[in-house]
Amino acid sequence: MLSSTNAITPNGYIRFRDYLQKACGISLSDNKQYLVASRLGKVLEREGFSKIEQLVDALEKYGSSKLKEEVINAMTTNETLWFRDIHPFTILKDRVLPEMTSGPLRIWSAASSTGQEPYSISMVIEEFKSARPGVLKTGEKIVATDICTNILQHAKQGEYDSLAIARGLGPDLQRRYFDKINDLTWKIKPHLSARVEFKYLNLIESFSALGKFDVIFCRNVLIYFTVDLKLDILKRMHACLKPGGYLFLGGSEALSGLSDYFEIVQCHPGIVYKAKS
Ligand SMILES: C[S@@+](CC[C@H](N)C(=O)[O-])C[C@H]1O[C@@H](n2cnc3c(N)ncnc32)[C@H](O)[C@@H]1O
Repeated sequence: MLSSTNAITPNGYIRFRDYLQKACGISLSDNKQYLVASRLGKVLEREGFSKIEQLVDALEKYGSSKLKEEVINAMTTNETLWFRDIHPFTILKDRVLPEMTSGPLRIWSAASSTGQEPYSISMVIEEFKSARPGVLKTGEKIVATDICTNILQHAKQGEYDSLAIARGLGPDLQRRYFDKINDLTWKIKPHLSARVEFKYLNLIESFSALGKFDVIFCRNVLIYFTVDLKLDILKRMHACLKPGGYLFLGGSEALSGLSDYFEIVQCHPGIVYKAKS
């Protein structure tokens, strides 16, 4: 077995870091050689590369390729859970959805990982519709996007093992919104998955073709990017929001420098950002 730590030479690490940032925005600090070694060990071994420079040479030579996809899949962090941080979902149900009466609701989950975020949103919509029938127009849609093709496949299937299902989901919601496939696997019910559409999308590229949204969840992904890229993405997200639309960020992703674009709405507890016109 190749020692992948030795494969990460100082010069190769810098070249790889630059490549990754250009390819998907992920910005690695100076001391992540160990992370790169552990994430890329299998790719290096399979390709027969003893040094990371060889990998960067191949990535630069072939441009858009299967290898690029594998490297991005390996370097993304897909950690997620149901109803992560809870407040955004409570705010969605109590503050945001009651205002969404004008047309079929469109929500974007902009880094959807294995699907827990968009499916949690779908459960909130379901709960809201049964508590307040007729408030939302029918035909609501959740567009769920991510750059990692492996996890998009998983998310589309909507199947979770007992460990994943238990993270953030109470037994009540589990019974109500999942079918048991076997002793180890639960699948999200079809009426919840029907309103979620999964798509590949790299946030550093244009996303205007997705159309306009009432609500955007962009949570726990901007932390991987530089401040400039984060601001650029948030300005483009503002352009994708309908007037008065809402943006949710992750707990450690405060929005600063964009007071011309968003108003902070304090919800006690929790925060949501409202698009200014
Ligand atoms: C930590 S997960 C967050 C999942 C979910 N939003 C949450 O809060 O639980 C971050 C996700 O961002 C995705 N990601 C990273 N860079 C991206 C990019 N340039 N474009 C789109 N998605 C990206 C990763 O693939 C990963 O699934």
